[in-house]
Amino acid sequence: MKPLKVNKRIILGPGPSSANPDVLNSMSNPILGYLDPDFFKILDDVRTGLKDLYRTKDHAFALSGSGSSGMEAGLTCLAERGDKVIICAYGYFCERQILMAERLGLEIIPIRTEWGKQMDPSLLEDTLKENPDTKLVVATHAETSTGVLQNIEELGNIVSKTNALFMIDCVTSIAGTEILFDDWNIDFSYAGSQKCLASPPGLSPCAMSEKAYQYIKNRKTKPSSWYLDLSLVNDYWDKDHIPQYTVAVSSIYALYESLRLLEEEGLENRWNRHKVNAEKLRKGLTAIELNLPISPNDRLDQLTVVTKPDHIDDVEFRNKLIYDYNIEIGRGLGDFAGKVFRIGLMGESCKSEYVDQILEVFQKEI
Ligand SMILES: Cc1ncc(COP(=O)(O)O)c(C=O)c1O
Repeated sequence: MKPLKVNKRIILGPGPSSANPDVLNSMSNPILGYLDPDFFKILDDVRTGLKDLYRTKDHAFALSGSGSSGMEAGLTCLAERGDKVIICAYGYFCERQILMAERLGLEIIPIRTEWGKQMDPSLLEDTLKENPDTKLVVATHAETSTGVLQNIEELGNIVSKTNALFMIDCVTSIAGTEILFDDWNIDFSYAGSQKCLASPPGLSPCAMSEKAYQYIKNRKTKPSSWYLDLSLVNDYWDKDHIPQYTVAVSSIYALYESLRLLEEEGLENRWNRHKVNAEKLRKGLTAIELNLPISPNDRLDQLTVVTKPDHIDDVEFRNKLIYDYNIEIGRGLGDFAGKVFRIGLMGESCKSEYVDQILEVFQKEI
């Protein structure tokens, strides 16, 4: 084998996005033991940074695994076999939650609504009235498959009037859109390090309410996964640092550095950078007469969905962008497969110069 050398790609897909160079450099720091007091100081700073980012007074930590590990951990820990779980399903990643919940033997009540539109919150209200014994409600903040931002505050208000716990997917929204974990009555949310946080893939930054923590500690049966037991993960990240598994030390250095850079930029400035660049992209795509199928009220800034013109071959076009222009964009998933392109502007990939480049390529090749 030769020493590894990977050429830089302009990644404008649905994720991962490029990692910030300082974040990548931070990973070359020497390895510390996961129970080293110096490492605990880093862990404590990351925990505080995540609590600030999520706006929570309760708990925060990062699972050693991708965003899906957070999804699986939440579903494994926040309901027991046979419990009723409502899953708000308006995209590909919501459907993944259903697939996981099936494997866990949960009684799933899906609320399936049209892809590409926000779900009407009254549907959740009605479903909860019909199922007052629901234990958990699951929703997705930013559905990367459709480019839709769901209003989580409204859903959280509804769930807070019941005894159910409320779990949110923030994989694409974290650091790119406002999340108010405590104010929106969220009990558990999971994210990914690889998008608006500008870190490499591999960690799932999470927040958890004290109510959810107590639920896990006191449930009738222990969660079926020891590795994904969120109470054990939290006990390691919390002040007593009770050992669980060997965490991904270098990835935690990276998350530290990406939270430091976020603090330097300012969280609201980071959201605004995503908004400004998305507006520029949408304006440019409209100017070259491409159709943006998602209504302006429902759109995400991190990811723009564009209808694929009929005369363009999906795979050929995306391969041309990779091989001729060194740019990656995303394909459609599920109901949107073969019908759309997805252009992500997230974290380190969210730059005005990249918007200029992709617009120039679209103008030339479409
Ligand atoms: C909304 C959403 N949820 C979950 C996931 C799964 O995350 P991962 O691929 O990091 O496991 C993704 C991945 O892009 C996503 O966009």
